[in-house]
Amino acid sequence: MEIYEGKAKKVIPLDDGKVIMEFKDDATAFNGGKKAQFKGKGWLNAQISAKLFRLLEENGIKTHFIGIAGENKLIVEHLKMYPLEVVVRNVVAGSLKKRLPFNEGTQLKEPIVELYYKEDALSDPMINYYHARALGVSEAEIKEMENIALKVNEILKEYFEKKGIILVDFKLEFGKNANGEIVLADEISPDTCRFWDAETKESLDKDVFRFNKGDLISAYEELYNRLT
Ligand code: C5P
Repeated sequence: MEIYEGKAKKVIPLDDGKVIMEFKDDATAFNGGKKAQFKGKGWLNAQISAKLFRLLEENGIKTHFIGIAGENKLIVEHLKMYPLEVVVRNVVAGSLKKRLPFNEGTQLKEPIVELYYKEDALSDPMINYYHARALGVSEAEIKEMENIALKVNEILKEYFEKKGIILVDFKLEFGKNANGEIVLADEISPDTCRFWDAETKESLDKDVFRFNKGDLISAYEELYNRLT
């Protein structure tokens, strides 16, 4: 396995079935259409991800997280990644309000789970079970990922509620380990979730950068401080 550099992370394989995930200070939005750097973002996302992976592990979710390997680095289990993104939504925001006749901020009666094919060149298109099967992912595997995603949602929603934060939506990625188990991977951070302050409804996530809502580092720091 070679070193892989994505938009916000570098993945460096070790020779013992582990991988270093290095979080960069780069921020991109709109499929790379908007770019900037924020000093300290990599550190914040690494720390927030570590905290949330630990919380999920404590609540019985299998994740790739092994430990913190430095300022902006996590050490994780090497997995064979699925080329999928699983999005869970509790409140209407982002692409959902563009696609369907819902108003921003509307609480959904039950969570919505969506599947996307992870491919920048195709702008991560939304897919269904038929597409997933054609891509080589079985219905049983998809169902398991969706079930894990809904459990993750319950755990995180309750946890953030206690911190005065609404978990609006988030994206997860999964991989398969050497034992053939489906494991939660990638990151869980304000780059990949929408968090709103419960009182003010202010964004504490990447929407601050996407929609020029203020200072990204202040928002991420505010989130981090509420978790620690
Ligand atoms: O843009 P959209 O509303 O579909 O995003 C839903 C959630 O998934 C948001 O929290 C967003 O940050 C996350 N997401 C992501 N990576 C993508 C697409 C969405 O982290 N490629």
